[in-house]
Amino acid sequence: MLSYQHVAVDLLKDAVRIDVHAGSQVSPIWVGDGIAGSAAAILDGQGVGRRIVVSSPTIWRHHGDRLVRALGPLEPILVPDGERFKNLQTVSRVYEALIRAGADRASAVVALGGGVIGDTAGFAAATFLRGIALVQIPTTLLAQVDSAIGGKVGVNHALGKNLIGAFHQPAAVLVDPQLLGTLPRREFRSGLYEVVKYGMIASRALFDRVARDSKALFARSPDALLPAIIESCRIKAEVVSQDERESGLRRILNYGHTVGHALESVTKYRRFRHGEAIAYGMLAAADLAVARGALADVERQALAKVIARLGPLPPVADLPIGDVLQVIRRDKKVVAGKLHFVIAIQIGATLTLDDVTEDELTGVLERLGLSR
Ligand SMILES: NC(=O)c1ccc[n+]([C@@H]2O[C@H](COP(=O)([O-])OP(=O)(O)OC[C@H]3O[C@@H](n4cnc5c(N)ncnc54)[C@H](O)[C@@H]3O)[C@@H](O)[C@H]2O)c1
Ligand SMILES: [Zn+2]
Repeated sequence: MLSYQHVAVDLLKDAVRIDVHAGSQVSPIWVGDGIAGSAAAILDGQGVGRRIVVSSPTIWRHHGDRLVRALGPLEPILVPDGERFKNLQTVSRVYEALIRAGADRASAVVALGGGVIGDTAGFAAATFLRGIALVQIPTTLLAQVDSAIGGKVGVNHALGKNLIGAFHQPAAVLVDPQLLGTLPRREFRSGLYEVVKYGMIASRALFDRVARDSKALFARSPDALLPAIIESCRIKAEVVSQDERESGLRRILNYGHTVGHALESVTKYRRFRHGEAIAYGMLAAADLAVARGALADVERQALAKVIARLGPLPPVADLPIGDVLQVIRRDKKVVAGKLHFVIAIQIGATLTLDDVTEDELTGVLERLGLSR
Protein backbone atom coordinates (compact mmCIF):
# COMPACT_ATOMS: atom_id res chain seq x y z
CA MET A 1 0.00 0.00 0.00
CA LEU A 2 1.22 3.49 -0.75
CA SER A 3 1.17 6.19 1.85
CA TYR A 4 1.24 9.86 1.04
CA GLN A 5 3.39 11.05 3.89
CA HIS A 6 5.84 12.74 1.55
CA VAL A 7 3.51 14.69 -0.62
CA ALA A 8 1.15 17.61 -1.05
CA VAL A 9 1.82 21.08 0.21
CA ASP A 10 -0.26 23.98 -1.08
CA LEU A 11 1.82 26.93 -2.17
CA LEU A 12 0.26 28.91 -4.95
CA LYS A 13 -3.41 29.63 -4.72
CA ASP A 14 -5.49 27.20 -6.77
CA ALA A 15 -2.54 24.93 -7.41
CA VAL A 16 -1.48 21.70 -5.82
CA ARG A 17 2.17 21.04 -5.16
CA ILE A 18 3.37 17.48 -5.05
CA ASP A 19 6.99 16.79 -4.13
CA VAL A 20 9.21 14.06 -5.46
CA HIS A 21 11.97 13.28 -2.97
CA ALA A 22 15.10 11.90 -4.59
CA GLY A 23 18.00 11.58 -2.19
CA SER A 24 18.45 15.00 -0.63
CA GLN A 25 16.76 16.70 -3.58
CA VAL A 26 13.16 17.82 -3.71
CA SER A 27 11.62 18.06 -7.15
CA PRO A 28 8.26 19.86 -7.00
CA ILE A 29 5.33 19.30 -9.35
CA TRP A 30 2.75 22.07 -9.55
CA VAL A 31 -0.64 21.10 -10.92
CA GLY A 32 -3.25 23.72 -11.65
CA ASP A 33 -5.62 24.98 -14.32
CA GLY A 34 -3.66 27.74 -16.09
CA ILE A 35 -0.51 27.15 -14.01
CA ALA A 36 1.75 27.61 -17.05
CA GLY A 37 0.80 31.30 -16.82
CA SER A 38 2.53 31.44 -13.41
CA ALA A 39 5.74 29.94 -14.74
CA ALA A 40 7.85 33.04 -14.00
CA ALA A 41 6.83 33.21 -10.33
CA ILE A 42 7.36 29.50 -9.80
CA LEU A 43 10.75 29.41 -11.50
CA ASP A 44 11.86 32.51 -9.60
CA GLY A 45 10.85 30.77 -6.39
CA GLN A 46 12.89 27.73 -7.36
CA GLY A 47 15.93 29.86 -8.08
CA VAL A 48 15.88 28.92 -11.76
CA GLY A 49 18.06 31.37 -13.67
CA ARG A 50 18.02 32.07 -17.39
CA ARG A 51 15.37 29.99 -19.15
CA ILE A 52 15.94 28.43 -22.53
CA VAL A 53 12.86 26.80 -23.98
CA VAL A 54 13.13 23.61 -26.04
CA SER A 55 10.01 22.58 -27.95
CA SER A 56 8.79 21.38 -31.33
CA PRO A 57 7.34 23.52 -34.14
CA THR A 58 3.86 21.98 -33.66
CA ILE A 59 3.75 22.52 -29.93
CA TRP A 60 5.23 25.99 -30.21
CA ARG A 61 2.58 26.94 -32.77
CA HIS A 62 -0.15 25.93 -30.33
CA HIS A 63 1.30 27.17 -27.08
CA GLY A 64 4.26 29.47 -27.77
CA ASP A 65 2.18 32.63 -27.16
CA ARG A 66 1.16 31.37 -23.77
CA LEU A 67 4.77 30.78 -22.79
CA VAL A 68 5.94 34.14 -24.06
CA ARG A 69 3.16 35.79 -22.03
CA ALA A 70 4.34 33.87 -18.99
CA LEU A 71 8.10 34.16 -19.34
CA GLY A 72 8.60 37.23 -21.50
CA PRO A 73 10.08 37.44 -25.00
CA LEU A 74 12.17 34.40 -25.83
CA GLU A 75 13.73 32.58 -28.73
CA PRO A 76 12.89 28.87 -28.39
CA ILE A 77 15.05 26.00 -29.58
CA LEU A 78 12.73 24.04 -31.86
CA VAL A 79 13.54 20.44 -32.76
CA PRO A 80 11.46 17.97 -34.75
CA ASP A 81 8.93 15.95 -32.84
CA GLY A 82 8.23 12.25 -33.06
CA GLU A 83 9.78 9.08 -31.71
CA ARG A 84 12.18 8.74 -34.63
CA PHE A 85 13.79 12.06 -33.73
CA LYS A 86 14.35 11.01 -30.13
CA ASN A 87 18.03 10.36 -30.71
CA LEU A 88 21.55 11.67 -30.13
CA GLN A 89 21.45 13.72 -33.31
CA THR A 90 18.60 15.81 -31.95
CA VAL A 91 20.40 16.09 -28.61
CA SER A 92 23.40 17.36 -30.52
CA ARG A 93 21.26 20.02 -32.19
CA VAL A 94 20.07 21.12 -28.77
CA TYR A 95 23.68 21.33 -27.49
CA GLU A 96 24.60 23.45 -30.45
CA ALA A 97 21.70 25.83 -29.92
CA LEU A 98 22.52 26.05 -26.21
CA ILE A 99 26.12 26.97 -26.97
CA ARG A 100 25.07 29.54 -29.55
CA ALA A 101 22.60 31.02 -27.05
CA GLY A 102 25.44 31.41 -24.56
CA ALA A 103 23.92 29.00 -22.03
CA ASP A 104 25.97 28.58 -18.87
CA ARG A 105 25.72 26.60 -15.63
CA ALA A 106 23.13 29.02 -14.28
CA SER A 107 20.84 28.48 -17.29
CA ALA A 108 17.88 26.12 -17.30
CA VAL A 109 16.33 24.10 -20.07
CA VAL A 110 12.56 24.43 -20.13
CA ALA A 111 11.14 21.45 -22.01
CA LEU A 112 7.74 22.27 -23.48
CA GLY A 113 6.25 19.20 -25.09
CA GLY A 114 5.24 15.57 -24.83
CA GLY A 115 7.42 12.71 -23.67
CA VAL A 116 9.65 12.86 -26.73
CA ILE A 117 10.62 16.50 -26.21
CA GLY A 118 10.81 16.05 -22.42
CA ASP A 119 13.09 13.01 -22.66
CA THR A 120 15.31 14.53 -25.36
CA ALA A 121 15.62 18.05 -23.96
CA GLY A 122 15.92 16.52 -20.49
CA PHE A 123 18.86 14.39 -21.57
CA ALA A 124 20.52 17.45 -23.11
CA ALA A 125 20.04 19.30 -19.79
CA ALA A 126 21.39 16.33 -17.83
CA THR A 127 24.61 16.26 -19.83
CA PHE A 128 25.29 19.82 -21.03
CA LEU A 129 28.12 21.27 -18.89
CA ARG A 130 27.77 18.10 -16.75
CA GLY A 131 24.17 18.99 -16.04
CA ILE A 132 22.14 22.18 -15.94
CA ALA A 133 18.69 22.73 -14.45
CA LEU A 134 15.65 21.27 -16.16
CA VAL A 135 12.06 22.46 -16.01
CA GLN A 136 9.35 20.30 -17.50
CA ILE A 137 6.15 21.78 -18.92
CA PRO A 138 4.46 18.66 -20.29
CA THR A 139 1.88 19.13 -23.06
CA THR A 140 0.51 15.59 -23.46
CA LEU A 141 -1.55 13.76 -20.86
CA LEU A 142 1.03 10.97 -20.88
CA ALA A 143 3.82 13.40 -20.14
CA GLN A 144 1.79 15.18 -17.44
CA VAL A 145 1.06 12.04 -15.47
CA ASP A 146 4.15 10.02 -16.31
CA SER A 147 7.17 10.94 -18.40
CA ALA A 148 7.81 14.44 -17.01
CA ILE A 149 7.88 13.08 -13.45
CA GLY A 150 10.58 10.96 -11.89
CA GLY A 151 13.77 12.21 -13.50
CA LYS A 152 14.28 9.58 -16.19
CA VAL A 153 15.54 11.27 -19.35
CA GLY A 154 17.08 9.79 -22.45
CA VAL A 155 16.99 8.93 -26.11
CA ASN A 156 16.81 5.92 -28.40
CA HIS A 157 19.73 4.19 -30.12
CA ALA A 158 19.40 2.64 -33.56
CA LEU A 159 19.69 -0.75 -31.80
CA GLY A 160 17.02 -0.14 -29.18
CA LYS A 161 14.64 2.21 -27.42
CA ASN A 162 15.67 4.36 -24.44
CA LEU A 163 19.13 2.79 -24.32
CA ILE A 164 20.93 6.10 -23.65
CA GLY A 165 19.83 8.01 -20.62
CA ALA A 166 20.30 9.50 -17.20
CA PHE A 167 18.50 10.33 -13.98
CA HIS A 168 18.04 14.08 -13.78
CA GLN A 169 15.32 15.35 -11.46
CA PRO A 170 13.59 18.47 -12.77
CA ALA A 171 13.89 21.69 -10.75
CA ALA A 172 10.15 22.00 -11.35
CA VAL A 173 7.34 20.37 -13.30
CA LEU A 174 4.37 22.54 -14.30
CA VAL A 175 1.29 20.53 -15.11
CA ASP A 176 -1.38 22.63 -16.79
CA PRO A 177 -4.43 20.80 -18.17
CA GLN A 178 -5.20 23.80 -20.40
CA LEU A 179 -2.30 22.70 -22.59
CA LEU A 180 -4.22 19.50 -23.39
CA GLY A 181 -6.97 21.36 -25.24
CA THR A 182 -5.13 21.00 -28.55
CA LEU A 183 -4.05 17.40 -28.09
CA PRO A 184 -5.45 14.98 -30.70
CA ARG A 185 -8.02 12.61 -29.24
CA ARG A 186 -5.93 9.52 -29.84
CA GLU A 187 -2.93 11.01 -28.00
CA PHE A 188 -5.21 12.02 -25.16
CA ARG A 189 -6.67 8.53 -24.95
CA SER A 190 -3.18 7.04 -24.90
CA GLY A 191 -2.47 9.05 -21.74
CA LEU A 192 -5.76 7.97 -20.18
CA TYR A 193 -4.63 4.34 -20.27
CA GLU A 194 -1.70 5.30 -18.04
CA VAL A 195 -4.19 6.91 -15.67
CA VAL A 196 -6.10 3.62 -15.65
CA LYS A 197 -2.77 1.96 -14.85
CA TYR A 198 -2.33 4.14 -11.76
CA GLY A 199 -5.82 3.15 -10.72
CA MET A 200 -5.02 -0.54 -11.16
CA ILE A 201 -1.79 -0.36 -9.15
CA ALA A 202 -2.70 2.04 -6.38
CA SER A 203 -6.18 3.57 -6.35
CA ARG A 204 -9.61 2.07 -6.78
CA ALA A 205 -11.04 5.61 -6.50
CA LEU A 206 -8.99 6.80 -9.46
CA PHE A 207 -9.97 3.76 -11.49
CA ASP A 208 -13.66 4.38 -10.75
CA ARG A 209 -13.25 8.05 -11.61
CA VAL A 210 -11.97 7.28 -15.12
CA ALA A 211 -14.79 4.81 -15.63
CA ARG A 212 -17.37 7.31 -14.41
CA ASP A 213 -16.04 10.52 -15.98
CA SER A 214 -14.74 9.30 -19.33
CA LYS A 215 -16.99 11.68 -21.29
CA ALA A 216 -16.02 14.75 -19.26
CA LEU A 217 -12.39 13.69 -19.47
CA PHE A 218 -12.49 13.51 -23.27
CA ALA A 219 -14.20 16.91 -23.27
CA ARG A 220 -11.07 18.08 -21.36
CA SER A 221 -13.23 19.51 -18.60
CA PRO A 222 -10.86 20.80 -15.88
CA ASP A 223 -13.25 19.56 -13.19
CA ALA A 224 -12.80 16.02 -14.41
CA LEU A 225 -9.17 16.32 -15.51
CA LEU A 226 -7.63 17.96 -12.49
CA PRO A 227 -8.45 15.34 -9.87
CA ALA A 228 -7.43 12.50 -12.20
CA ILE A 229 -4.12 14.17 -13.04
CA ILE A 230 -3.38 15.15 -9.44
CA GLU A 231 -4.02 11.64 -8.17
CA SER A 232 -1.86 10.12 -10.94
CA CYS A 233 0.99 12.54 -10.21
CA ARG A 234 0.72 11.76 -6.49
CA ILE A 235 1.03 8.06 -7.11
CA LYS A 236 4.01 8.43 -9.42
CA ALA A 237 5.68 10.93 -7.04
CA GLU A 238 5.18 8.63 -4.09
CA VAL A 239 6.55 5.57 -5.86
CA VAL A 240 9.57 7.45 -7.20
CA SER A 241 10.22 9.03 -3.79
CA GLN A 242 10.42 5.58 -2.25
CA ASP A 243 12.49 4.02 -5.01
CA GLU A 244 14.09 6.48 -7.42
CA ARG A 245 16.43 4.00 -9.11
CA GLU A 246 13.91 1.21 -9.64
CA SER A 247 15.34 -1.42 -7.33
CA GLY A 248 11.92 -2.58 -6.23
CA LEU A 249 8.75 -0.57 -5.75
CA ARG A 250 9.19 1.55 -8.90
CA ARG A 251 8.66 -1.64 -10.85
CA ILE A 252 4.94 -1.48 -10.11
CA LEU A 253 4.83 1.41 -12.58
CA ASN A 254 5.63 -1.21 -15.19
CA TYR A 255 2.21 -2.79 -14.74
CA GLY A 256 1.04 -3.73 -18.24
CA HIS A 257 4.43 -2.84 -19.69
CA THR A 258 5.97 -6.31 -20.16
CA VAL A 259 3.50 -7.30 -22.85
CA GLY A 260 2.89 -3.66 -23.83
CA HIS A 261 6.53 -2.99 -24.67
CA ALA A 262 6.75 -6.25 -26.58
CA LEU A 263 3.74 -5.30 -28.71
CA GLU A 264 5.30 -1.91 -29.47
CA SER A 265 8.59 -3.54 -30.34
CA VAL A 266 7.23 -6.22 -32.70
CA THR A 267 5.30 -3.53 -34.57
CA LYS A 268 8.40 -1.28 -34.67
CA TYR A 269 6.67 1.46 -32.69
CA ARG A 270 4.43 2.22 -35.66
CA ARG A 271 1.10 0.65 -34.84
CA PHE A 272 0.37 1.57 -31.25
CA ARG A 273 0.52 4.75 -29.28
CA HIS A 274 2.34 3.81 -26.08
CA GLY A 275 -0.80 3.82 -23.92
CA GLU A 276 -2.66 1.60 -26.39
CA ALA A 277 0.00 -1.07 -26.10
CA ILE A 278 -0.16 -0.72 -22.31
CA ALA A 279 -3.92 -1.22 -22.45
CA TYR A 280 -3.32 -4.63 -24.05
CA GLY A 281 -0.56 -5.27 -21.53
CA MET A 282 -2.91 -4.58 -18.63
CA LEU A 283 -5.52 -6.93 -20.11
CA ALA A 284 -2.80 -9.58 -20.38
CA ALA A 285 -1.66 -9.04 -16.78
CA ALA A 286 -5.24 -9.24 -15.53
CA ASP A 287 -5.87 -12.42 -17.48
CA LEU A 288 -2.72 -14.01 -16.08
CA ALA A 289 -3.71 -12.98 -12.57
CA VAL A 290 -7.18 -14.49 -12.97
CA ALA A 291 -5.70 -17.70 -14.38
CA ARG A 292 -3.56 -17.96 -11.24
CA GLY A 293 -6.53 -17.32 -8.99
CA ALA A 294 -4.88 -14.11 -7.77
CA LEU A 295 -7.50 -11.69 -9.11
CA ALA A 296 -11.29 -11.99 -9.13
CA ASP A 297 -12.71 -12.27 -12.63
CA VAL A 298 -15.15 -9.41 -11.97
CA GLU A 299 -12.15 -7.12 -11.45
CA ARG A 300 -10.68 -8.22 -14.78
CA GLN A 301 -14.04 -7.57 -16.42
CA ALA A 302 -14.17 -4.08 -14.89
CA LEU A 303 -10.76 -3.33 -16.42
CA ALA A 304 -11.81 -4.70 -19.81
CA LYS A 305 -14.96 -2.57 -19.67
CA VAL A 306 -13.09 0.68 -18.94
CA ILE A 307 -10.57 -0.01 -21.68
CA ALA A 308 -13.38 -0.74 -24.14
CA ARG A 309 -15.20 2.42 -23.10
CA LEU A 310 -12.18 4.64 -23.75
CA GLY A 311 -12.13 3.64 -27.37
CA PRO A 312 -10.89 1.27 -30.03
CA LEU A 313 -7.43 -0.30 -29.87
CA PRO A 314 -5.39 -1.19 -32.95
CA PRO A 315 -5.67 -4.88 -33.91
CA VAL A 316 -3.31 -7.61 -32.64
CA ALA A 317 -4.73 -10.66 -34.44
CA ASP A 318 -1.93 -10.75 -37.04
CA LEU A 319 0.91 -10.60 -34.50
CA PRO A 320 2.67 -13.95 -33.95
CA ILE A 321 2.89 -15.03 -30.32
CA GLY A 322 6.43 -16.33 -30.92
CA ASP A 323 7.69 -12.88 -31.91
CA VAL A 324 6.21 -11.30 -28.80
CA LEU A 325 7.71 -14.01 -26.56
CA GLN A 326 11.10 -13.44 -28.11
CA VAL A 327 11.04 -9.76 -27.15
CA ILE A 328 9.93 -10.59 -23.61
CA ARG A 329 12.80 -13.11 -23.36
CA ARG A 330 15.25 -10.42 -24.46
CA ASP A 331 13.83 -7.98 -21.86
CA LYS A 332 14.35 -10.62 -19.23
CA LYS A 333 18.02 -10.92 -20.13
CA VAL A 334 18.36 -7.20 -19.60
CA VAL A 335 17.21 -7.57 -16.00
CA ALA A 336 19.67 -10.30 -15.00
CA GLY A 337 17.72 -13.34 -16.07
CA LYS A 338 14.54 -12.71 -14.12
CA LEU A 339 11.29 -11.56 -15.62
CA HIS A 340 9.52 -9.35 -13.09
CA PHE A 341 5.89 -9.47 -14.01
CA VAL A 342 3.57 -7.12 -12.14
CA ILE A 343 0.00 -8.21 -11.57
CA ALA A 344 -2.90 -6.51 -9.83
CA ILE A 345 -4.42 -8.74 -7.15
CA GLN A 346 -7.38 -6.38 -6.88
CA ILE A 347 -8.02 -2.98 -8.41
CA GLY A 348 -5.58 -0.77 -6.49
CA ALA A 349 -3.07 -3.36 -5.25
CA THR A 350 -0.22 -5.22 -6.91
CA LEU A 351 2.14 -8.13 -6.55
CA THR A 352 5.33 -8.76 -8.53
CA LEU A 353 5.85 -12.30 -9.85
CA ASP A 354 9.21 -13.68 -10.89
CA ASP A 355 8.08 -17.18 -11.86
CA VAL A 356 5.86 -16.54 -14.88
CA THR A 357 6.38 -19.32 -17.42
CA GLU A 358 6.40 -19.13 -21.21
CA ASP A 359 3.44 -21.51 -21.31
CA GLU A 360 1.48 -19.15 -19.14
CA LEU A 361 2.39 -16.20 -21.35
CA THR A 362 1.49 -18.17 -24.46
CA GLY A 363 -1.96 -18.86 -23.04
CA VAL A 364 -2.45 -15.22 -22.15
CA LEU A 365 -1.38 -14.00 -25.60
CA GLU A 366 -3.64 -16.57 -27.26
CA ARG A 367 -6.60 -15.34 -25.26
CA LEU A 368 -5.64 -11.75 -26.10
CA GLY A 369 -6.18 -12.79 -29.73
CA LEU A 370 -2.65 -12.96 -31.14
CA SER A 371 -1.83 -15.52 -33.82
CA ARG A 372 -0.11 -18.84 -33.27
N1 LIG B 1 10.98 9.48 -19.00
C1 LIG B 1 10.02 8.65 -18.62
O1 LIG B 1 9.92 8.28 -17.44
C2 LIG B 1 9.02 8.20 -19.64
C3 LIG B 1 7.86 7.53 -19.23
C4 LIG B 1 6.92 7.18 -20.20
C5 LIG B 1 7.16 7.47 -21.53
N2 LIG B 1 8.31 8.10 -21.89
C6 LIG B 1 8.57 8.44 -23.30
O2 LIG B 1 7.58 9.36 -23.73
C7 LIG B 1 7.47 9.28 -25.15
C8 LIG B 1 6.04 9.36 -25.55
O3 LIG B 1 5.53 10.61 -25.13
P1 LIG B 1 4.10 11.17 -25.63
O4 LIG B 1 3.10 10.10 -25.56
O5 LIG B 1 3.89 12.42 -24.88
O6 LIG B 1 4.32 11.42 -27.18
P2 LIG B 1 5.01 12.59 -28.03
O7 LIG B 1 5.93 13.41 -27.25
O8 LIG B 1 5.51 11.92 -29.26
O9 LIG B 1 3.76 13.50 -28.42
C9 LIG B 1 2.73 12.95 -29.20
C10 LIG B 1 2.31 13.88 -30.32
O10 LIG B 1 1.51 14.92 -29.80
C11 LIG B 1 1.95 16.19 -30.27
N3 LIG B 1 1.64 17.12 -29.18
C12 LIG B 1 2.23 17.19 -27.97
N4 LIG B 1 1.59 18.07 -27.19
C13 LIG B 1 0.59 18.60 -27.94
C14 LIG B 1 -0.43 19.55 -27.68
N5 LIG B 1 -0.58 20.10 -26.47
N6 LIG B 1 -1.28 19.83 -28.67
C15 LIG B 1 -1.19 19.23 -29.87
N7 LIG B 1 -0.24 18.31 -30.17
C16 LIG B 1 0.63 18.00 -29.20
C17 LIG B 1 3.40 16.01 -30.55
O11 LIG B 1 3.82 16.93 -31.50
C18 LIG B 1 3.44 14.58 -31.06
O12 LIG B 1 3.14 14.53 -32.42
C19 LIG B 1 8.17 8.00 -25.56
O13 LIG B 1 9.37 8.31 -26.19
C20 LIG B 1 8.45 7.29 -24.24
O14 LIG B 1 9.63 6.53 -24.26
C21 LIG B 1 9.23 8.45 -20.96
ZN1 LIG C 1 4.10 3.71 -19.84
